[in-house]
Amino acid sequence: MNRLTRFVASVAVVAAIAAPAAVRADDQDTIAYREDIMKTLGDQAASIGMIIQGKAPAENIVAHTQILALAAASALDAFEPKVAGGESKPEVWAQWADFSKKMNEFSMAAADLAKTAKAGGLEAVKPKMQATMTCKGCHDVYRQKK
Ligand code: HEC
Repeated sequence: MNRLTRFVASVAVVAAIAAPAAVRADDQDTIAYREDIMKTLGDQAASIGMIIQGKAPAENIVAHTQILALAAASALDAFEPKVAGGESKPEVWAQWADFSKKMNEFSMAAADLAKTAKAGGLEAVKPKMQATMTCKGCHDVYRQKK
């Protein structure tokens, strides 16, 4: 291959790799994405619970609360496309103002928990757990378990 054909070939490869990004996510992707974020929340909440029970290393509280906060901050965008299905009730979009308020409040509380963990460690986190973990309050209204 001369230099030009090599260049043209490499452009074709880059275009082929970049192409899927331009394709719109279909409904299954949209649902899978928000469920993946929720699974992350579930995993982190479980790990934090284990640490509080003394069954996992206390110093990891910082990492788990940070991951929880990052996932919480990404969650609302994942629900933004109005795609019914999964375990979401139609109320998510019918009552979007309330749903997004709940999600934003949860995200802010999770960010505060991560800050608290970094500054004060596990003992500082414990008293804030109940007020932060508003998962059930939202699920009771907006999730139907399948
Ligand atoms: C503001 C509302 C809201 C908050 C807060 C919230 N969730 Fe959810 N969660 C949902 C909705 C809606 C679904 C259903 C998503 C779907 O399947 O379309 C869901 C689904 C889930 C699922 C199932 C994911 C799967 O495998 O399909 C898990 C696990 C979960 N949430 C964990 C949590 C945990 C843990 C927290 C708190 C730390 C939390 N959620 C906070 C609304 C919320």
